[in-house]
Amino acid sequence: MAKAEVIKIILQNIVGPKPKATLEPVEELKQTLSKYFSLPTLPVNSGRSAIYLILKAAGIGEGDEVLIQAYTCNSVPNPIIWTGAKPIYADINLDTLNVDVDDLKRKISSKTRAIILQHTLGRPGPIEEVMEIAKQMGLLLIEDCAHCFGAGYKGQKLGTFGDASILSFARGKVVSSISGGAVIVKNKKLLGKIELLVDALPPTPKSHLFKDFLNFFTWRGILRRVYFNPFAYQLIQALDKQNFFNPLYSSKELKGLKPSWHPAKLHPIFVKVALSELPKLEKQNSRRGEIAEKYYQKIKNRKFRLLPKHKGIYLRVVSFYEDPDKFFKKARRHKLWFGNWYNAPVFPKETYLKEMGYTLGSCPQAEAAASQTINLPNYPDMTDEQIDFAVDFINKYDEL
Ligand SMILES: Cc1ncc(COP(=O)(O)O)c(C=O)c1O
Repeated sequence: MAKAEVIKIILQNIVGPKPKATLEPVEELKQTLSKYFSLPTLPVNSGRSAIYLILKAAGIGEGDEVLIQAYTCNSVPNPIIWTGAKPIYADINLDTLNVDVDDLKRKISSKTRAIILQHTLGRPGPIEEVMEIAKQMGLLLIEDCAHCFGAGYKGQKLGTFGDASILSFARGKVVSSISGGAVIVKNKKLLGKIELLVDALPPTPKSHLFKDFLNFFTWRGILRRVYFNPFAYQLIQALDKQNFFNPLYSSKELKGLKPSWHPAKLHPIFVKVALSELPKLEKQNSRRGEIAEKYYQKIKNRKFRLLPKHKGIYLRVVSFYEDPDKFFKKARRHKLWFGNWYNAPVFPKETYLKEMGYTLGSCPQAEAAASQTINLPNYPDMTDEQIDFAVDFINKYDEL
């Protein structure tokens, strides 16, 4: 989203005359999303809050287990832990970075109550197989659509298969309102309970909002320029380490603890940012697809293995490379910055695996993928020259 648009929205809401609206903004967002998915869709302040609320509504807690895949971020196991339940990790398929169905089956126990199916980085997960397992075993199926807003499978939108699904509008996601998320509810038995929980949510604390805005103006506003300016990147990294911005994953969450601002209502300003971003969804997803296609056509260096193509959306384009840390260092020297989602079985690397209930060695494929993951830049507003710059770097990598 353009910085100017966000400034306008903030000014309109804080200091300027309020634009006349026929609907409360959050009601408008709710209606827009519900129409898009043809299912009731309730905005909340984050994807992790959305997971938490679904689990709570389903009565999942102490003594229960919830199956998730490794090669994920701590925002998935955390809301499970916050309910008192235990996350159980299944390994992944190395060609898709999605869950390995056989391992998922092996991990089912008498305590399993739900499966969270992650559509990793925009690639549809094995939805038919997992739906069948959930049906046979009487498990709740939650689709994690944090990465795949706008993608479909066999003509049906992802997010409309499971009993309930979650969206994330955090920074770096398909649609970003700086912070935000939503619950999509298909299972009618859950709807009333989730509505009650969402209605009772407190507002997001103001101090938190301020830091979120700071974040936007640095990460979203400067990030693209930073690609070609390693000094600015270093400065932002240093400020981030000092907790100057709201980190995506707070220090509490690295240890499985629940911060006070999750769950909460989505702030009206973020609602408006989301509303102004939504109309761009399809155009931006198709541009991401075009960028991915260019990488597939142009990258010739065999040391970089791109995953097989897919029919979802390309939130990130992943390449495997044997030594990502060396690669990132060299890239920065050449004024390029590549992403690292997910360079740990439970991202980010600083996450305490023990507190996440993850045992090292338990999901070898996920660990292998994490140790080789590089994200190629694919922001929708990247220019073709910038794409070529990244491609050239990879193709000439060994000579540089
Ligand atoms: C796979 C996945 N699920 C859920 C979430 C949670 O989203 P949020 O950051 O909005 O809480 C994330 C966040 O990065 C994610 O990557």
